Amino acid sequence: MGAFSDVVGSKTSSKKLINLLKGWPSLSLLPTQLLDKATHNVLKHKSIAFPALCYGPDAGDSLLRRNVASWLTKFYQPVDPISEERICITGGASQNLACLLQVFTDSVYTRNVWIVAPAYMLSFRIFEDAGFHKKLRSVPEDDEGIDIEYLKREIRRSEDKAKDANNNEPQFKPQRSWGKIYKHVIYCVPTFSNPSFKTMSLRRREELVRLAREYDALIVTDDVYDFLQWPSSLTPRTLSIDKAEMPRIVDVDRYLDGGAEREGADGFGNAASNGSFSKICGPGLRTGWCEGTEKLSYGVSQTGSSRSGGSPSQLTACFVAETLETGELQRFVFEELQPAYGNRYRRMVQAINKELIPLGVHVPQTDREVVGGYFIWLTLPAPLKGAVLAQRAKDEENVVVAQGEIFQVPGDTEQPGTYFSNHVRVCFAWEDEDMLAEGIERLAQVIRRMQNEETVGDSSAQPATAEGDAKDYW
Ligand SMILES: Cc1ncc(COP(=O)(O)O)c(C=O)c1O
Repeated sequence: MGAFSDVVGSKTSSKKLINLLKGWPSLSLLPTQLLDKATHNVLKHKSIAFPALCYGPDAGDSLLRRNVASWLTKFYQPVDPISEERICITGGASQNLACLLQVFTDSVYTRNVWIVAPAYMLSFRIFEDAGFHKKLRSVPEDDEGIDIEYLKREIRRSEDKAKDANNNEPQFKPQRSWGKIYKHVIYCVPTFSNPSFKTMSLRRREELVRLAREYDALIVTDDVYDFLQWPSSLTPRTLSIDKAEMPRIVDVDRYLDGGAEREGADGFGNAASNGSFSKICGPGLRTGWCEGTEKLSYGVSQTGSSRSGGSPSQLTACFVAETLETGELQRFVFEELQPAYGNRYRRMVQAINKELIPLGVHVPQTDREVVGGYFIWLTLPAPLKGAVLAQRAKDEENVVVAQGEIFQVPGDTEQPGTYFSNHVRVCFAWEDEDMLAEGIERLAQVIRRMQNEETVGDSSAQPATAEGDAKDYW
């Protein structure tokens, strides 16, 4: 992995590099003191330190599972409290996506992986590693977060094909009482999406769960930005919001039409939520959680590598458990992170409103009351190309941004709404807060130049791929 300094801007520009590409938390917002204290507390007492330093239980440290369950219960306010048994500790959202695919899919029997696009591009390799590189399909977003009619149509076609091919049973995975193999996987980031910034409406969440039940699909959601939310108003009275605006898809699956454990259903449910401490505590912790039905959660805890080595990230999980046990991490998120990222967001949006909107740039879902996450998605006025803008912004202004193409699902970019050549993503989490507005101003200068030139839209610049410094694009 490249070091921070490997993120190169222009080699010739005298201007300071402004990095709106890197999707990492601001270093100033990593809770080092809080972790220092937690680490000390864990290692000081042998009764805590020894289990923390040994192989952990398959489903993870039970103090963390309990604390996560109670925090999620307070935040999402489901009708019934979330039980510890619904939670399995993971090595983060990415690691657990791989585990879910290992346990719950078969690369032949599982017909397709449906990915809401534009998509978190570092998920693509995880699906490819699980054998799905020829089975990735993109599903366009609409204003409500997913074009559900498109997905319905295409999933039906996929089922027809499976029928014709007599694709009736898993080829590579054994039968296990604690697992099952789904026919389809649907992957999305329903809240404050990376990269599109959108939040999926409740109506679409319910439609998606119904569709998943009808076609035996597992919906995997990366719910990694949910806690990082604030009012969209540029003059709010407070920037902290301690309750989620909407249930996650895993919550919807729990209550809708009799719930995931309704009579006649197999009890695994149709949704798995990947949570993570990466964005709210530190990605180096490599710790997160998965929530699903108790059966699904147990199933993922039985992934071969966890059966052998115990839950991943056992030691760091114990540190995090301590920060939740004292209530400090929850306070840190609501009192420090939400206002800090909310302020960063405001500064960037004010600059976008002033500099980019008059040039014809478009931002999605501006009418929402609650916004959040790390990113803003910009649609450029035709015929501007994101790849050209990204290249020129770097060369001429030493500003780096992510061009839309890298968020396209590999191998499925033909349909309208599945290619993103006139988009760029900007991140307000990483760069110094004081440089955010200037970054947008410099971007506006390049756009103005491009609009003034006859060669507007010359796509000679090649889009980058998610290779190389891939992690810098998060
Ligand atoms: C949508 C999404 N999923 C997963 C991740 C990575 O999460 P983790 O560090 O928990 O693997 C990111 C990080 O940017 C992300 O944006």
